[in-house]
Order: sequence, then structure tokens, then C-alpha cells
Amino acid sequence: MEHSSKNLFLIGLMGAGKTTIGKALARRMHLQFIDSDHEIEARTGVSVRTIFELEGETGFRARESSTIADLTLRKGIVLATGGGAVLLEETRKCLNERGIVIYLRARPEDLYKRTKHDRERPLLQTDDPLAKLRALLEARHTFYEKTAHIIIDTGEQGVPRLISNIEKELLEFQTQS
Ligand code: S3P
Repeated sequence: MEHSSKNLFLIGLMGAGKTTIGKALARRMHLQFIDSDHEIEARTGVSVRTIFELEGETGFRARESSTIADLTLRKGIVLATGGGAVLLEETRKCLNERGIVIYLRARPEDLYKRTKHDRERPLLQTDDPLAKLRALLEARHTFYEKTAHIIIDTGEQGVPRLISNIEKELLEFQTQS
């Protein structure tokens, strides 16, 4: 397996901290931070929520997949992906082959705490968002685990602690490969 040590891709469910941790990691490692949802919004000129309304989840996934296919060709980036980016095989392949993939793993209860006031994530606008997060984790955890090179458990610890855990794991991973 070939890895570009210059790209780091963050995957995980909504509320796992991909954007917050991604920004801090990029600053620390002098890489450029990109968020795939923001890139999709910049390309289309509308919000993710609007894309879901107009084109459904299938339409959004197609846009997400082609955006990630482009972005992963760059060098020297930290890419925070949307929580469902791992659903399509071609996207998983782009991520896995073009950088080091870090899965930010979290418990549904913690994800719920961080997303409960959110009105922008279409999949969480249900009567029972915690049950939805549990179901999404159940449906996706295998994809996250098999796409990732590194798994980081996020819990109560703050960003600096997580960043230093990631750095340690990256060092170990790069020594092994
Ligand atoms: C989604 C996660 C969102 C966004 C969209 C769908 C998902 O991104 O791409 O609402 O299917 O889990 P975040 O994980 O950044 O919230």
C-alpha cells in the first residue's frame, strides 16, 4: 500500500469533531485544512441541507464522491469528510489509497451531546436523533474501521490531548509502513 504521508483524511460520524480536530491538526502540521461539505457548498452555491432537499441523499452522495475524488488528488492537506463519505466504495478507495485515514470514533451519546442543537444536518432532523446516531453507527462502523489506517477514540478529552494522541499514532503508523 502506497501512502502520501502529506495527506491526512478524517472520517467518522457527525459530531465526532472532524472539523475542529482537522483545523487544529492542520495548524500543528503546517498542512492546508479542507472540509468536504464546505467544498461541496462552495461548488454548488447552496447548503448541504438544500442539496438534500432538492436531490435527496443519493444526489448528495454523488456530489460528495466526485468532490472527494478531486480533493484527495491534492498534496499536503487535512481533509475533514462528511460522516457518510465512506458509504460509496469509490470514495473509500480514494481516501484509503491517497492519504492516511484517521477514524475519530465516538459513542452515540457523545455525538448526540455535540449535535443536539444542530438544524443543518438533514439526517438528524428526526424525533429521536440519538436513535438515529446509534443506527448510523451500526450501519457504518465497519466501513469506518476498514477504511481507516488509524483509529482514535474520542471521549471527554480536549483537542490538545487528541492532537497529541493522533501525532503519536501517526508516528507509529509511519514507522511500521
Ligand atoms: C452526513 C454528515 C454531514 C453531511 C451530511 C450527511 C452523514 O457531515 O455531509 O449532512 O451522512 O453522516 P458531518 O459529518 O461533517 O456533519
